[in-house]
Amino acid sequence: MKNQKKYLELLNTAAAGKVKLNVRQIEALLSPPDEKCEQKLFEAALELKRELFGNLVNLRGLIEFSNICKCDCLYCGIRKSNRKVTRYTMSETEILHSAELASQFGYGAVVLQSGERDDVQFTGQVTALIKKINAVPNPPAITLSCGEQSLKTYRRWVKAGAKRYLLRIESSTPELFNAIHPEFTTLAKRKAALRRIRRAGFQTGTGVMIGLPGQTLKHLARDIKFFRDIDVDMIGMGPFLPQQDTPMGNADNSPETIQRRFKWALRMIAVTRLVLRDVNIASTTALQALDPENGREKGLLAGANVIMPNVGEVAYRKDYQLYNGKPALDENGKNIRSALLKSLRKIGEEPRWDSSGDPIHFVKRTAK
Ligand code: 5AD
Repeated sequence: MKNQKKYLELLNTAAAGKVKLNVRQIEALLSPPDEKCEQKLFEAALELKRELFGNLVNLRGLIEFSNICKCDCLYCGIRKSNRKVTRYTMSETEILHSAELASQFGYGAVVLQSGERDDVQFTGQVTALIKKINAVPNPPAITLSCGEQSLKTYRRWVKAGAKRYLLRIESSTPELFNAIHPEFTTLAKRKAALRRIRRAGFQTGTGVMIGLPGQTLKHLARDIKFFRDIDVDMIGMGPFLPQQDTPMGNADNSPETIQRRFKWALRMIAVTRLVLRDVNIASTTALQALDPENGREKGLLAGANVIMPNVGEVAYRKDYQLYNGKPALDENGKNIRSALLKSLRKIGEEPRWDSSGDPIHFVKRTAK
């Protein structure tokens, strides 16, 4: 009872947004003492989301245009050492078709995501693509998610007309980061890349995986502080899902662990909303993988305001399985869209049609 009262007081303080919470308080918010308090947390985050953005959800058409990757992250299904995936790069025509589809669907923005490469052939192709997408009728805003690049490359992509960039930090705790990446990938390098992204002028997004082996709510509280410290505009995070063809494929995946990852992911969305407030937060596909019926909806009801429905070619979908249980493997963009509309309606939210959906946070920080 006492814990409950204390929790609800802290929640009220967080929701009012007048005090800068410390890591201990953020961790406490991530640890509701019972279900009722957890529900209150989600409600407070949803209320703030609706106050800031109304009952509107931004949509971005996701195009997973290549699974070729030079990295070997221990958790990721498209890591370089995984010989079981057939490597592909969509043709320019296919990518443009997907971008046009996104625009016709009224999505207003696309995310071009790929494995990480930094050779000139690749970076040049991306530059050309950005220009061509910007030339389609009613072009969608372009978000890139193509890994760590030089400042020069990031600048070139901004100049070509890309607006946003997503690069997850995966975990801001060095020990956890090191445990899931090969030694040549470092947290310091990843942070430096995020700084370059911001410097190049992108709306900047990052995020973490939730429920990694050895990860605690304290680590996650520090992640939220990290998001605040680097002043990001967008967040995408989701539960860690072991992928069988990776070194982390044998990680604990008992029903209790899965349940915990899911709960923690929702709490992370809610607390991030309360602490960072006017940023865009995605309800990610990984949530849907754990709860195909309601995962994404629950993310929105916990304060997220972005969904990234796939608009890529179905034929490639099976070769872009970063994790097990990826939903809608053989659904085309049209079916995904109608399922999404239905589920939004069910929870009283609506798509924000034909809008690039810039994060208010970015608009405010660049107007200063
Ligand atoms: N489980 C959950 N998320 C994963 N990602 C990659 N592999 C996994 C996995 N096994 C996420 C990473 C990456 C994003 C593109 O996908 O956070 O940044």
